[in-house]
Amino acid sequence: MVIDFNKDWKFFLGNDSTAIIPAFNDSHWRKLSLPHDWSIEFDFSKDYPATTQGGALPGGIGWYRKNFILPVAAKDKNVSIEFDGVYKNNEVWINGHYVGKRPYGYVPFSYDLTPYLLQSPQKNVIAVKVDNSQQPDSRWYTGSGIYRNVKLVIKNKISIDDRNLFLTTHITPQNKAVILDIQGNTTAGSVSPTASKIKVSVLDSSGKLILSETMYSTLINGFHNFHAQYIIGSSKFWDIQNPYLYKLKLELLNGYGTVLDDVTTLFGIRYFDFHNQKGFSLNGKPLKIYGVCMHHDLGALGAAFNINAARRQLKILKEMGCNAIRFSHNPPAAEMLDLCDQMGFLVIDEAFDMWQKRKNKFDYHLDFEEWHKKDIEAMVLRDRNHPSVFMWSIGNEIREQFDSTGTSITKELVSLVKNLDPTRPVTSALTETFPEKNFITKSNALDVLGFNYKDYDYPELPKRFPGQKFIALETASALETRGVYELPSDSIRTWPPNYKVQDTFAGNKDFTSSAYDNTHAYWGNSHERSWLAVKNNQHIAGAFVWSGFDYLGEPMPYPKFPARSSYYGIIDLAGFPKDVYYMYQSEWTTKPVLHIFPHWNPTRGGTGWKHGQLVDVWAYYNNADEVELFLNERSLGVKRKNDSTLHVMWRVNFEAGTLKAVSRKNGKVVLIKEIKTPGEPHHIGLTADKTNLKADGNDLSFITVRILDKNGNLVPDADNLIEFSVAGNGILAGTDNGYQADTISLKSNKRKCWKGMALAIIQSSEKKGNITLTAKSPGLSLAILTLRNN
Ligand code: GAL
Repeated sequence: MVIDFNKDWKFFLGNDSTAIIPAFNDSHWRKLSLPHDWSIEFDFSKDYPATTQGGALPGGIGWYRKNFILPVAAKDKNVSIEFDGVYKNNEVWINGHYVGKRPYGYVPFSYDLTPYLLQSPQKNVIAVKVDNSQQPDSRWYTGSGIYRNVKLVIKNKISIDDRNLFLTTHITPQNKAVILDIQGNTTAGSVSPTASKIKVSVLDSSGKLILSETMYSTLINGFHNFHAQYIIGSSKFWDIQNPYLYKLKLELLNGYGTVLDDVTTLFGIRYFDFHNQKGFSLNGKPLKIYGVCMHHDLGALGAAFNINAARRQLKILKEMGCNAIRFSHNPPAAEMLDLCDQMGFLVIDEAFDMWQKRKNKFDYHLDFEEWHKKDIEAMVLRDRNHPSVFMWSIGNEIREQFDSTGTSITKELVSLVKNLDPTRPVTSALTETFPEKNFITKSNALDVLGFNYKDYDYPELPKRFPGQKFIALETASALETRGVYELPSDSIRTWPPNYKVQDTFAGNKDFTSSAYDNTHAYWGNSHERSWLAVKNNQHIAGAFVWSGFDYLGEPMPYPKFPARSSYYGIIDLAGFPKDVYYMYQSEWTTKPVLHIFPHWNPTRGGTGWKHGQLVDVWAYYNNADEVELFLNERSLGVKRKNDSTLHVMWRVNFEAGTLKAVSRKNGKVVLIKEIKTPGEPHHIGLTADKTNLKADGNDLSFITVRILDKNGNLVPDADNLIEFSVAGNGILAGTDNGYQADTISLKSNKRKCWKGMALAIIQSSEKKGNITLTAKSPGLSLAILTLRNN
């Protein structure tokens, strides 16, 4: 029995160690549901020791408590609590007994509570201390608290140890039959002293039983292990377009055929290969990896995991044509991988951002020695049955790359991974492209060499590392603020120009960066040139763009407050695509794309264009031979991309009116796009990505707010302050606008629009009925949107 253990917790921000005493009075503590991140609840400030790198938000110490009565059925069973992630340094007490601690904030862990529990109807109390007070401890925003899901697991004393269950599929080379290999063990003895019986069922995605077998566990070295292989008939492969999933059910039976325990898990059948010249293939077909790197925060929700917010991120990425994600630089929430299995993303699961050598004073280097074995194993054990996970990464830009300790640690970490999963390649994100200087590659232990940036070296890599396989684990690090356009668009800005001025770099007064794809960090490149480099080098299996979404923290190029979130995203923190999204979409999908920018807004004392000013108009397109641009129905000429560009550009004298782009293939119109000069702000447009919510207390609707003129055109320089209120059976879970230097808490109900747009996130309650969002702003008519909560 698995019980969702997220509800009815008490929380106190501060330190009170008497909270471990069962009789402690927590009535004055705040009541809340998990997952929870306390850091995100604050206004941003320059005063927090995490600095702007950590998101300009506070850490601290927090305590959580929960009273609970066990179900009657828990008698004589084993009861454990499973945490998927606590940031960080958690310590746990049950009924006053200390059960353990875990320093690393990104791995799952569990505690056996059985010896200390009181049976129903007596009350138990669990107390969790979370200590994220030592700052700075990260190069990005971590969040603080029990920020992932918690479960209470009640099992028979004799049960299947699901943590150790390992499923793999093999394709026999001759006849392409699929063999399902199942291994694992049962806990604490067996039904008979030597063997226990396990019923194996495999169901296809329609629920049809396609395999029904029985296997037996045998006693080996005190463990009751099972290991069996079965041929699966008429198998369908898991891939990016059709992520076909099967279900495996194992039932542990006693001598009378009674089910003592059952475990169900989904799996997929796929095989893949890295080739040193030809790159990657999935299920025998070449596949360039169109990947992005993602940190774990969910924008305005902070680190608090919500599957609906995660699904939205993945949907936006899927629409762009993205087929792979590198969860940087730590394992993601378990449910994120379920989503990747279901939606068809390849995943790189990464363990660490540092080993023994620090990147920040209080980061994981302090815990590496004692915990790295347990932590990397926790990642592999939790994630190795996911078809989406296709590679392990043992670390990102690890400092030990540059000295001999790198060689031995690499060997150790790779062997820890391979002991638990010999089926997947292991990589690490490297920066040193000369083999004689790279002590990680010297280990010869990596299966695929992952390089970050330095795209100018791609053609050289096969010569420097003969026979090796390559992947670009980070590309671009281009810097953009949605809706900001700096001319001329074809002059590239390197911001900051070098590491020496990194801490003093000034940039723009309003902490923005141009969205023409003409600004990047000194170690990176523009999106366009980065992607071309991967595209044109077949031996590079694919790219992971830094980054998919903007994330909290690391506000390069701005070293100082108020900049507090990143500029690297293809998509901003609120989830609104920047223009370059369509460059990737035009390259990574086959659906017709035509996107033109910038805005066509005249200056009204604001940021618009002056009459007659030369403005660069860009178009991203595909599935067409040419694009023709018209201004107020006058043709400005036809443009075509060539092999070295992924956009076309016209230099246009600004004149208010309508810009129209027409893409054509063989003379036939493919798409038409228009941008009109808007009038004054007139009303607020609200668009929900979901209008029917589930009344589960957890569902989300993301509502895009647009400031529109009287004809419904976006006013692209509008910065109206919106005040939101929510009535009925939901709450406002957060607001945002994607601007990297907005210092108001992302939980605030007041948000200024940025470039005409803002976001409100509505969360369902458990009560059915309507939810009404009202958005008001001085001088604009009120906007009301009603959602259903069912
Ligand atoms: C890389 C690093 C990432 C991020 C990125 C920003 O060097 O691995 O975590 O910091 O730079 O450009």
